[in-house]
Amino acid sequence: MRTPHVVVVMGVAGTGKTTIGPLLAAALGVPYAEGDDFHPPANIAKMSAGTPLDDADRWPWLDAIGQWAHGRAGLGGVVSSSALKRAYRDRLRGEAPDAVFLHLTGDRSLIEERMAGRKGHFMPTALLDSQFATLQPLEDDEAGVAVDVSGSPEEITQRAVAALRRLDD
Ligand SMILES: Nc1ncnc2c1ncn2[C@@H]1O[C@H](COP(=O)(O)OP(=O)(O)OP(=O)(O)O)[C@@H](O)[C@H]1O
Ligand SMILES: [Mg+2]
Repeated sequence: MRTPHVVVVMGVAGTGKTTIGPLLAAALGVPYAEGDDFHPPANIAKMSAGTPLDDADRWPWLDAIGQWAHGRAGLGGVVSSSALKRAYRDRLRGEAPDAVFLHLTGDRSLIEERMAGRKGHFMPTALLDSQFATLQPLEDDEAGVAVDVSGSPEEITQRAVAALRRLDD
């Protein structure tokens, strides 16, 4: 039997990490953890005050996500984390060397449309611009797959399961 993957679901805001993460976890029969829940209190205070996080704020958060992922090594798990920069993924891998990344990719226009429909969230266009400007896609030496987010959540989940399965071939 294959060792279950520990998957970090990455991608820009609104790409569907929180939507697809739990569906993927259910399909794989493993637990899901929401990356946003790993912020230390200092980050929550900063975000509540409307101050953007800087990289120094992100390191303890990424370490906490990485520690969760490492705790699932050999057992399997899915956790969301936008992980837009290579340096963020390197940090996660520092804690969880076996983590694989699922990059949810999509057209800017599609993501914008989906964001517009999201309740209780406000994402100005400039923020989405900065997300795409920051994004550094997976490089060849990084374990992971990219999956397009067109279609229904169920279709995307099946695409992700198939892509992750091909990683083992
Ligand atoms: N395949 C889909 N079809 C239609 N709507 C979708 C799909 N995937 C996600 N959505 C909707 O798009 C919006 C953004 O998705 P979601 O919140 O999962 O993104 P996210 O990557 O977690 O964003 P953030 O980085 O801000 O946490 C939500 O309103 C969600 O319901
Ligand atoms: Mg989310």
